[in-house]
Amino acid sequence: MTRFKAGDEVFAFPGASFGSHAEYRTISEVGLIALKPNSLSFDEAAALSFGGTTALSFLRDKSGIKCGDKVLIVGASGSVGTAAVQIAKHFGADVTGVCSTTNLDLVRSVGADRVIDYTQADFALQRETYDIILDTTGTTSFARCEHALKLGGRLLLVLGSFAQTLGLERPSKASGKKVIAGVASAKAEDMNYLAELARTGDFRPVIDRSYLFECAAAAHAYVDTGRKKGNVVLTLHHLHQAARAAA
Ligand SMILES: NC(=O)c1ccc[n+]([C@@H]2O[C@H](COP(=O)([O-])OP(=O)(O)OC[C@H]3O[C@@H](n4cnc5c(N)ncnc54)[C@H](OP(=O)(O)O)[C@@H]3O)[C@@H](O)[C@H]2O)c1
Repeated sequence: MTRFKAGDEVFAFPGASFGSHAEYRTISEVGLIALKPNSLSFDEAAALSFGGTTALSFLRDKSGIKCGDKVLIVGASGSVGTAAVQIAKHFGADVTGVCSTTNLDLVRSVGADRVIDYTQADFALQRETYDIILDTTGTTSFARCEHALKLGGRLLLVLGSFAQTLGLERPSKASGKKVIAGVASAKAEDMNYLAELARTGDFRPVIDRSYLFECAAAAHAYVDTGRKKGNVVLTLHHLHQAARAAA
């Protein structure tokens, strides 16, 4: 082993291989694993990767976000949404978040320049146009968003329908607009990148609730409501006790 030594505090992401509902899990040292930033608790570090790698993949890798872009995040209060707001701000974008009334303050607190309450207004019917619209909720389509995209704008469907994922929703070439769906790809270096964003304070994961490992079923039931804010974390009992003892 060369990258880590015994006792290092690390965080890791299993991606599509799952398998992290366990006390111990092996992961390659060249896999999705990095040193935990000292400024974060283990719960927070665990919550860095799901939303963080997804937001990086869609915003940076698939759509090439750049400084000054106008970005709209639909579902800005979820795990991917709260990460996407912060990561878009890190790249120098002007960010508008779409969320419900109860989550307006949360979305402002993670750095959104503006918020739209979807229970009161429909962003697609407003005059504003964006370089990037990122949807984590599966409630948008190109037809609905076309007028809200600038020339050359990209609609990023983190949650898309089967047809959208197959690329069947295709804008005309003349519009220069793009619909980008599919699976987020996480790279090993993304973990260090996210850790660095956490160290500099550019990205702090939002945790809604932490559950003891024994209550994993209740945690999943809560996540399945579709109403969580940011992330839900499972904590192993002895870590929970150690954290309490240290507090
Ligand atoms: N493509 C990929 O590779 C990839 C990777 C990761 C995740 N995903 C998918 O991305 C989706 C999002 O995951 P997540 O964990 O970030 O989200 P989530 O936590 O499942 O989203 C819940 C949040 O969305 C808000 N919400 C619900 N309906 C909304 C609407 N119509 N407009 C705006 N906000 C709305 C909810 O707040 P309110 O109910 O209060 O509005 C809640 O805060 C999941 O379906 C996940 O499977 C895909």
